[in-house]
Amino acid sequence: MKLGLFDSGVGGLTSLRAIRHMLPNADLVYLGDTARLPYGTKSSQTVRSYAELAVGYLVQEYGVDAVVVACNTASAYATNSLKAQFPHIPVYSVIEPSVSAAVASLAAVDAPLVGVLATEATVREQSYNRAILASLPHALVVSEAAQLLVALAEEGVLEGKIARLVIEKYLTSLFTQQNRWPQVLILGCTHFPILKHEIRRAADGLGANAMHIVDPSLEIASTITAEIGSGLQSGNGETYFLATDNADRFVRVGNIFLRGEIDLTEPEIIDLLPDLVR
Ligand code: DGL
Repeated sequence: MKLGLFDSGVGGLTSLRAIRHMLPNADLVYLGDTARLPYGTKSSQTVRSYAELAVGYLVQEYGVDAVVVACNTASAYATNSLKAQFPHIPVYSVIEPSVSAAVASLAAVDAPLVGVLATEATVREQSYNRAILASLPHALVVSEAAQLLVALAEEGVLEGKIARLVIEKYLTSLFTQQNRWPQVLILGCTHFPILKHEIRRAADGLGANAMHIVDPSLEIASTITAEIGSGLQSGNGETYFLATDNADRFVRVGNIFLRGEIDLTEPEIIDLLPDLVR
């Protein structure tokens, strides 16, 4: 059994790293659509068409048995259409597992308030809001488009003064929306888990010590392990990397996301554009 993961670029490697930790024998194919990055500032129609091309490639060329949409923006915009288009394989969004974890931690809380940091596109689509309210109708959700955190992560600025100031800006914006701290904060973008320690420190410094942080990469890894882990564990532990542009940058920035824990081999560069438009 083979698991495909795709993201707009290298951010989804946070999910790959978490899945690899839990399932060391799984065979994984990772596709980063680096030619069309970023997805987080694009329209729904555009992101959906890119996501369909990427998953189509993983299914046709690599025969993957399941796919993780390891990109929050693509999960927000394209999960339903991907499920409809590829009904023979399970397609996992990174949004649902985080929402389930957030909702579970709020079970006994009065006036639940959930904070979401995500890209511009994910915030606009409100997928987190809808999913949270579907399970917890009396909750309130506050969200912030935190584009600067994407840039910080890709530059490897994961801690220190600059990272702290930017994080504080977004946390403070979340606070001011309801004049109180959310009990739970979802890091709703692939890039944010690698900033988690500085986000924790900044939150504590601002007085939000009790705010629980949900890391989608860990939640998707738990979901995959629970649902298809036994099938995946019978593999050879191989990881194959694909990208649509710029192999050097994929390796350089990808290593920031993998934190040196997984060997990042040079990706094969592929062309996702259909013959018609080539
Ligand atoms: N992977 C995207 C996400 O999780 C962030 C980077 C981008 O905008 O493409 O939303």
